[in-house]
Amino acid sequence: MLSVVVLISGTGSNLLALLKTIENPLVPVRVLAVGSDGAAAGLAHADFYGIPTFVVERGKFSDRESWGLRLQEIVESYNPDLVALAGFMKILPAKFVDRFSPNLINIHASMLPLFPGANAVRDTLAAGVTETGATIHVVDAGVDTGPIIEQRKVPVMPGDDIATLHERIKVHERDMLIQTIIGVAEKRIDLASI
Ligand code: GRF
Repeated sequence: MLSVVVLISGTGSNLLALLKTIENPLVPVRVLAVGSDGAAAGLAHADFYGIPTFVVERGKFSDRESWGLRLQEIVESYNPDLVALAGFMKILPAKFVDRFSPNLINIHASMLPLFPGANAVRDTLAAGVTETGATIHVVDAGVDTGPIIEQRKVPVMPGDDIATLHERIKVHERDMLIQTIIGVAEKRIDLASI
């Protein structure tokens, strides 16, 4: 049984997809807790499933290091096999990454290394490209730069806005997140050798 702590910042549709999947007792994954850096709407999904939640607000700490250390302490307290960033919109301090990587994965709404950062979908539309993608990768000390586990191409359609394109990308993010976590649980994916 692979134990996971999930970190989010927003609506948590990726988290919800994972929680729905692991309702099936044949899936060897359990989510120990869900954390966020603020009042994330997605925490309600964890509440619905009776999963503990925690919030470590960046604004309550004088600097990123102390914020990251508190977040690390809480995540460590659950002793997870894997930490999954599912729409976590803060850059983690190197100390946090060093503590958990390679058992620390992230999803990103572009075909990295294209369009890294917090506004990938907006930047994709602004670039006028006709194809983008979704990426799941191991987190390293950079921003959206770690070893890539899987990527899928996603078309940009005429008339797309941020919402329509992002949802088309999320369909693939959700599936890659779930398939990656199950692959790790079933030892078909070795994050240390990506
Ligand atoms: C995902 O598209 C992820 O790539 C980005 O934030 C989004 C999270 O979506 N970092 P949701 O909160 O899981 O719906």
